[in-house]
Amino acid sequence: MTKKSELISEGKAKSLYTTSNTNELRMVYRDDTSAFDGKKKEALLGKGEVNNRFNAFIMNYLEERGVETHFIRDLSETESIVKKLDMLPVECVVRNIATGSLCRRLGVEQGIKFDEPLFEFFLKNDDLGDPLINDNHITAFGWGTEDEINFMKQKTKEINVHLSELFDKNNLILVDYKVEYGRYEEKLLLGDEFTPDGCRIWDKTTGESLDKDRFRKDLGDVVESYQIVAHKLGIDI
Ligand SMILES: Nc1ncnc2c1ncn2[C@@H]1O[C@H](COP(=O)(O)OP(=O)(O)OP(=O)(O)O)[C@@H](O)[C@H]1O
Ligand SMILES: [Mg+2]
Repeated sequence: MTKKSELISEGKAKSLYTTSNTNELRMVYRDDTSAFDGKKKEALLGKGEVNNRFNAFIMNYLEERGVETHFIRDLSETESIVKKLDMLPVECVVRNIATGSLCRRLGVEQGIKFDEPLFEFFLKNDDLGDPLINDNHITAFGWGTEDEINFMKQKTKEINVHLSELFDKNNLILVDYKVEYGRYEEKLLLGDEFTPDGCRIWDKTTGESLDKDRFRKDLGDVVESYQIVAHKLGIDI
């Protein structure tokens, strides 16, 4: 008898279910969209499908370039099968251009282009507003080891090289993005998602935002913009 698929976690945008294989999970991309640590919420029709397809493309793209990920295969329009990871409670952010929370936090001008991408760690904790942390917090509280910190920094920057080039050649700018890692059989794999929900993408010609900033700033056409990016990257949706 096959075991029933059980919901193991329901985040703000995705749900995770068990599968018949104990090492694998079914990830369901929902239409739910949130911003400002869950304070602003809305369901945007079709977003789950676009993000599932978008993520599958990016994860495959990165795998082909030597970045090991949790992604196994897509299952339906809105579902994928992934390796079950023991997630580190940190978010890794890389910024190529200063905008958003960085400018608010440090009072710096918007639009500064960094010669070297800026890397930041944040603690995954909505109640605390995902605070900025440093390497020392991660080791002091046992959220990760020094080797894991080095790995995350190196991989996240490697991802930036691959994806900045991909976006650039499709007339898009990858402004910044967030990724998460988790442990699988003694090593770290790229987990979670890479979609316009977790990054900033600008049109190179017009400078228009084509990412979740459209939702944050009530600019409209959120899912349509994600679709525009997908089409520019050659993703079949
Ligand atoms: N392969 C994986 N194995 C186990 N957990 C995963 C995996 N990939 C992602 N996750 C976790 O599943 C959840 C995904 O759901 P979602 O993105 O909707 O959460 P969220 O509301 O953003 O919450 P969080 O603030 O924890 O990210 C996240 O907590 C993420 O860390
Ligand atoms: Mg999330």
